Amino acid sequence: MSNGAKNQDGRIDRFFSGPGARADSWRDLVDAAKAWTRSPGDHARFDALLAQLAVTEEYHGYPGPHLMAALKESASSDDATGASSLAVRITQALQTRSFRQHAGDWNLHDEGEGTAPDLLPPSFGRTEAHRPYFETLIVTGLPATNWSPLCAEWRRLRRPIDAFIYEPVFVGSFEDAFCATILNPDIAAVVINEGFTFRSRHDAPVLRSLTAAMDQQEDSDVSALKLAHVLKRVRPELDLYMVSNRRVEQLAGNPEADVVRRIFYSVEELLELHLAVLEGVQDRFDTPFFDNLKKYAQRPIGTFHALPIARGKSVFKSDWIRDMGEFYGPNLFLAESSATTGGLDSLLEPTGNIKKAQEKAARAFGADHVFFVTNGTSTSNKMAVQALLGPGDIAIVDRNCHKSHHYGMVLSGAQPLYVEAFPMTEYSMYGAVPLRTIKQALLNLKAENRLDRVKMLDLTNCTFDGHIYNTRRVMEECLAIKPDLIFLWDEAWFGFARFSPFLRPRTAMGAANDIDEWLHDPKAVAAYEKQRSEFGANPSDEVLLETRLIPDPRQVRLRVYQTNSTHKSMSALRQGSMLFVKDVDFHTVEAQFHEAVFTHASTSPNQQLIGSLDVARRQMELEGYGLVENAMEIAFAIRQAVAANPLISKYFRILGADNMVPAQYRESGFVDYLSPGANWVMALRSLREDEFCLDPTRMTLVCGTAGFDGTQFKGILANRYGIQLNKTSRNSVLLQSNINNTRSDVAHLIRVLAEISGEIDRSLSHGGINARKTFEARVRSLMTDVPDLPNFSHFHDSFRGDAGTKTNEGDIRSGFYAAYNAAGCEYIRLADAEIDRRLKNGPGAGVRQFRHPVPAGLPDHGAGAGHHPGNDRLHAQARCQGNPRLRRRRGIEARAARGVSETRRQPFADAWDQGRCGIKRA
Ligand SMILES: Cc1ncc(COP(=O)(O)O)c(C=O)c1O
Repeated sequence: MSNGAKNQDGRIDRFFSGPGARADSWRDLVDAAKAWTRSPGDHARFDALLAQLAVTEEYHGYPGPHLMAALKESASSDDATGASSLAVRITQALQTRSFRQHAGDWNLHDEGEGTAPDLLPPSFGRTEAHRPYFETLIVTGLPATNWSPLCAEWRRLRRPIDAFIYEPVFVGSFEDAFCATILNPDIAAVVINEGFTFRSRHDAPVLRSLTAAMDQQEDSDVSALKLAHVLKRVRPELDLYMVSNRRVEQLAGNPEADVVRRIFYSVEELLELHLAVLEGVQDRFDTPFFDNLKKYAQRPIGTFHALPIARGKSVFKSDWIRDMGEFYGPNLFLAESSATTGGLDSLLEPTGNIKKAQEKAARAFGADHVFFVTNGTSTSNKMAVQALLGPGDIAIVDRNCHKSHHYGMVLSGAQPLYVEAFPMTEYSMYGAVPLRTIKQALLNLKAENRLDRVKMLDLTNCTFDGHIYNTRRVMEECLAIKPDLIFLWDEAWFGFARFSPFLRPRTAMGAANDIDEWLHDPKAVAAYEKQRSEFGANPSDEVLLETRLIPDPRQVRLRVYQTNSTHKSMSALRQGSMLFVKDVDFHTVEAQFHEAVFTHASTSPNQQLIGSLDVARRQMELEGYGLVENAMEIAFAIRQAVAANPLISKYFRILGADNMVPAQYRESGFVDYLSPGANWVMALRSLREDEFCLDPTRMTLVCGTAGFDGTQFKGILANRYGIQLNKTSRNSVLLQSNINNTRSDVAHLIRVLAEISGEIDRSLSHGGINARKTFEARVRSLMTDVPDLPNFSHFHDSFRGDAGTKTNEGDIRSGFYAAYNAAGCEYIRLADAEIDRRLKNGPGAGVRQFRHPVPAGLPDHGAGAGHHPGNDRLHAQARCQGNPRLRRRRGIEARAARGVSETRRQPFADAWDQGRCGIKRA
């Protein structure tokens, strides 16, 4: 790739370009400096790159104005060697992050620490223990010439006893503060002094494209409070401090100022501000449960109850299992306990540090309450469903949801009303459920006077393949039809999204907070009334389906629940999950929740799991923004590399938003993040308006075009190259980037894809016409002879109870238990012609067992292989013929079974029909 093209890719006005793009710019500068040393006097390219870089480097503490000025100076004095060695040192320090601890990195020459006392804190680089580093953004109205002495003043405040070390970063305008907050993930606190300007002192196009995304005009309010609100929206985890030289009391009393952690009067001591900044970070750093667990592990404790593994004596003294102790290390055993006292707490009834840890998690994720769960989101979902639904309640459920929802319905006796996602037949997968389908279901129930029975809408966001709902719109429109509807958003895969300003509004909690704000806006009632009068007395269903409905803010009871597998996208140990609550009526169901906790939580929860949930929260609050940015950048790097590589792109492609989301659901006209001309403004509009968006970190790699089915390709990647990936479909595999990935992972993947593509290329060119024909036939079979994706048919009449005529809800619980009657069951193999005969002539049958792909909608899931039904051993067990009620059933199970056997990908609900059903899990 040419340098020009590389720069283009790395530009900050491209999407989500983060730390990687910055590192690339520095490497380009190093290359230019080296070229200059080889052609003395020719430093035009170096100058140009430095000028470009200088704009955004102002937003970072390191290398800082001192070293940047030195680089500029070397250009004006034609010192190629000096420029090159300094650029190399800075680049290395950024790459290794050594500047966070090593004082010498901040010096002009690497002469060790202490040679620039005005730049460095007395203890910087010398502490015995590692001190976490962050940066504090200082927004000021003072001219830039004052920033350097001011910076020195801040640094002089550092004390050896400080738990953290930070570097101040100065900006003088609203725009710069916004850009710095976006571009610098190290910023953990912002001090806003009044008196700054609106416009940046730079007029760089890269900044314009960023600030356009901010949606803020020059003539608008540029007060410190306004800035605080804008920054809080971008990164809610940041601590904001305001320094005002007038009316601080009035400001402090303003409810709008609640986004600010503390307000200072400008003449006050700078030391107070410094201490407040440290305290704010300490508050996020503290992990109440984990901190106590560590203390507990250090204490001499004799255990006289269960859990002999605790303290590890029986492990380390053993000749036979000592390797286990050596492998895991002593702390694991020292921190094992079945106690709930002595500094620990009870997960089932938390009153101490687990309670505090949960409260911190609630703050971090924008919820009112959080439950820590130690048996995965499978359990979180069952808890929520059981607590919120009772026998006979109707829940509108995505048919492709994870098994835990179906089991939750069985437990609670609620009646699921399955709604269908749009099919993506070409790739043998499902999308998400269109809002129109959901509204239609609600309107049908309303038409039959059964709206009062509907309690919940239960959806998966994002879906396994990355379809993100417009959570706000879905909730608002549903609330317009049923103002007290409860929402359960299964965000098993999407917990990380909270820490991206782009994705947050599309999370359950992000949207719930936005709706909550709107409900309190006086304009909301007026908007509702206006729409109501436009509708007239009796708007038709068609009008209601076509219009974006506005709920009545006076009627709405906002009740939102979100579950997430913290272990799937953050640093929690496997099975660590959280259940978030933002429900104005939580007090009415709180007791039920405690029952649900008692039903599902083990009485022996694992301490390490709880500790990891606490730590995962700490990490996300302090560095989640940068980590998520990195995960997105990695995904874009993979997408770009696959598309740009001539060999790889011959056989493989990654589906863009345009392939994953049909055009009618991309109302903004957005095509894809990587399509020509796409920019931040367009992506933001899509994220704001479109019915569905694609999570960029979830990449569907089509491998059918290379002649591999998903399972086969997954096996090749795992067995030959040690690359593990997520799920597969008939002709694709799903790659997922997360906070753990590095660019080396990208390089490995791309190298492997290039190698495989090369092998295909060679075998085709050496194999002659026959090899090509066989290959083409294989590709055709994988890509075009794809099986249908049948919808859920219906519940058998026996299990329809009092269901209405227009809707297809059913009593899943009775059906489930009817299957316990062995006499009513028969077994038919999936491929058996008997199924076709029965379909045609009857007698019908229901489906005996849940046939659910794990995870949601998808059977072939490496991570969940333990409960993945072995495809080859699927047996149709239409066991229902002995049951006269079931004999009436026609056709459903056989079709479902056949769907399974052909595609091996069917979501369970095809196979599930009432009660007795036909697919045995291996
Ligand atoms: C949508 C969805 N919800 C819930 C779960 C269950 O989560 P866990 O594995 O944490 O129990 C999964 C698992 O893959 C899932 O895909």
